[in-house]
Order: sequence, then C-alpha cells, then structure tokens
Amino acid sequence: MAELVVALDFKDGASALDMARSLRGAVPWVKVGLELFTAAGPTLIGELKGLGFKVFLDLKFFDIPNTVQGAVRSAARLGVDMVNIHALGGERMACAAMAGCAEGTEPGGVPPLVLAVTMLTSMAAGDLPVEGAPDPSEMALDLAVKAKQYGLNGVVCSGLEVAAVKSACGPEFIGLTPGIRPTSSGEDDQRRVVTPAAAVASGSDYLVVGRPITGAASPKAAVLAIIEEMQSPA
Ligand code: C5P
Repeated sequence: MAELVVALDFKDGASALDMARSLRGAVPWVKVGLELFTAAGPTLIGELKGLGFKVFLDLKFFDIPNTVQGAVRSAARLGVDMVNIHALGGERMACAAMAGCAEGTEPGGVPPLVLAVTMLTSMAAGDLPVEGAPDPSEMALDLAVKAKQYGLNGVVCSGLEVAAVKSACGPEFIGLTPGIRPTSSGEDDQRRVVTPAAAVASGSDYLVVGRPITGAASPKAAVLAIIEEMQSPA
C-alpha cells in the first residue's frame, strides 16, 4: 500500500510543527526539505520524530563522495527514516552515500532508506540546460537503472515514469513520486505531474504532496481527500 508523505515546506520550525500537530495520526510521513532544514536545523527532526512521524530528509545531496558520505552519516545519526542524494553524482558518490548510511546507523538499528533523485518533477522537455538532452522521463529511467546498480534503495521520480522504473528495476526498488496534484489542484511550478490515483496505479510506493495540503483551508481534510483518491481507481 502506497504511503503519503507531506512536504513541510515552511519558513520556520514553529509553523512546521503546528502543521505536523494538525496532521498527527492522519499521515505517517513528513518531509523536511531545504527551506525548513536551513531555517530550523536538526533539532526539528527529533521533534517531528517525537510526534510519531517518520521523517524523510530531502536535502538532495550532490557533492564529492567524501562530503556526501559525511552528510549521509550525519543524517543517519539524526535518526531520519529516509534521505536522498542526486543520481547524477554517479557510482562513487552513491557508494559513498551507502557507506555513510551504514556508519551513521547504530549497531542493530534500522538504516534510513537512501533514494536517488533522478530528474526533478519541475523539469519538462527543454528545461535541462544541455544541448541535445534526452527527454526527462527517458533520463529518469536511465538514472534509476544506474541507481539500482549502485545499490541504492530506490529513486525519486515522477509518477509518469514510475511504472517503467519498477519494470526495469523490480518491484522492491522504491519509487517515490513528488509532483502529485489532486484533480482539484493547479500545477504550481511542477511540470511532470500526475493525480494521486494515477501515481498509485503506476506503482508508486510513496507520494509526496506539499502545497495542495499545506495551502488548503483544512490541511487535514486535504490529506483525507488525497488518501481517498489514492484508494480509488485511476
Ligand atoms: O508543493 P509540492 O507538492 O509541489 O511539493 C513537492 C515537494 O517535493 C517539494 O518539497 C519539493 O522540493 C520536493 N521534490 C520535488 N521533486 C523532486 C524531489 C523533491 O518536487 N524530484
């Protein structure tokens, strides 16, 4: 059964915690990304865990292998349940990330899942600033196949390519899909979007949703409506 992850894209920890408290019990996962982590730091991770959430630290690490190894080690020490790197960092960076993950996990503890971002869901054909670049969905699939070879647990991709990723990499290889838009919502800055029902039908394991929930008049009602959409046929 696919799980919903709410992106807590807030400017400070207090606003994120208010939102998290209002969604407690309705949703299993929250995501802490660049804006919130830069503002509120590691303490917030412990507070969200204390509220009972699983935490996805979405900092999309992309640096030399040694630096990424240290960053993933620190993330694992924080106790997050999922963390991500960029697939474009290649094999040595990916292997360093997995080594850092093992080093940062307590003996006998459960390591965080390490996913690779393939192509941002905000990118459409022509957005990649590279002459003659392939279509983003083709590139996402190629990067997913490599990420699997490098030993990562799964990828971040669009719901448009998750079925192809699953068929190339196997059902156990995780597909996490942002760029989810319920039928009633606009695209915002996202481009490769699908509905919750379509993402689930395509085999997505985790659906990441931010603004359609956090910007709703009742975020909890928005969560419940999305969960209902996730359970209905595409
Ligand atoms: O508000 P919205 O639903 O568009 O939020 C999507 C979230 O997922 C954002 O926090 C964004 O940073 C993140 N994300 C994404 N595309 C990726 C990886 C992460 O949109 N490929």
